[in-house]
Amino acid sequence: MDWGLKNRLSRIVNPETGRTVMLAVDHGYFLGPTRKLEDPRTTIEPLLPYADALMPTRGVLRACVNPESSTPIVLRVSGGSSVIGEDLSNEDIVTSIRDALRLNVAGVALSIFVGSKYEHKTLTNLAKLVDEAEEYGVPVLAVTAVGKELEKRDARFLSLSCRIAAELGAQMVKTYYCDDFEKVTTGTPVPCVIAGGPKLETERDAFELAKRAIGQGAVGVDMGRNIWQNDNPVAMIRAVRHIVQENGTVDSAMELFETVKNETPAG
Ligand code: R5P
Repeated sequence: MDWGLKNRLSRIVNPETGRTVMLAVDHGYFLGPTRKLEDPRTTIEPLLPYADALMPTRGVLRACVNPESSTPIVLRVSGGSSVIGEDLSNEDIVTSIRDALRLNVAGVALSIFVGSKYEHKTLTNLAKLVDEAEEYGVPVLAVTAVGKELEKRDARFLSLSCRIAAELGAQMVKTYYCDDFEKVTTGTPVPCVIAGGPKLETERDAFELAKRAIGQGAVGVDMGRNIWQNDNPVAMIRAVRHIVQENGTVDSAMELFETVKNETPAG
């Protein structure tokens, strides 16, 4: 593997632990001002020190993230549809690799919509992005999107989507946790991270999700709403980090959450 590509990947996934806590803040690219991400700068700033990588769009990166930050950026480069539009799967590559390089990214991310009307387009978008990004040593994270159909998140669908992403050259895949998740990670010959999905009922639910995913082969999380929609986002990311990077248990994550919560003002 090319030195630049390896170097960038090692900025995303800590080579000492083989794990990563990515913070997803790209939701506005199709959802607009998502709850608790209305003012991205205020949401992102206190969480950045605890993230191994940040996943924004270029607009939020430029406007809301301090350029002196050393947190690696995995830039969302696909888009073009909105939650009120005709079809969420109708995405293009909306940020050039040249601009991504100018923004000094560690990686680029794009969604694929397997089984959707625009399956072919999103898969060929991925293949083209891999061709372009690899020329400059930039790894590609493929996101196995489900659009509004959250019920699609089962091992059969996700292992199909993740495997196709890896076959087309994605160096990492972001997917969802599901029952029989080992089937997904076993069938995907590149590192997988999991999204958190919509905010779960309790903190413990989110910690259990992270713990199970790690136990079944994920290299980490790329979590958004379960962190920053919590009233105590710093406590949340620190507790998730404890599980992912320190092999913490769900109980010790709960303890850390409560301790940090009592030290930090609620968000
Ligand atoms: C969805 O496509 C967005 O790209 C988010 O990055 C992703 O869903 C992860 O965020 P969350 O943990 O909120 O699901």
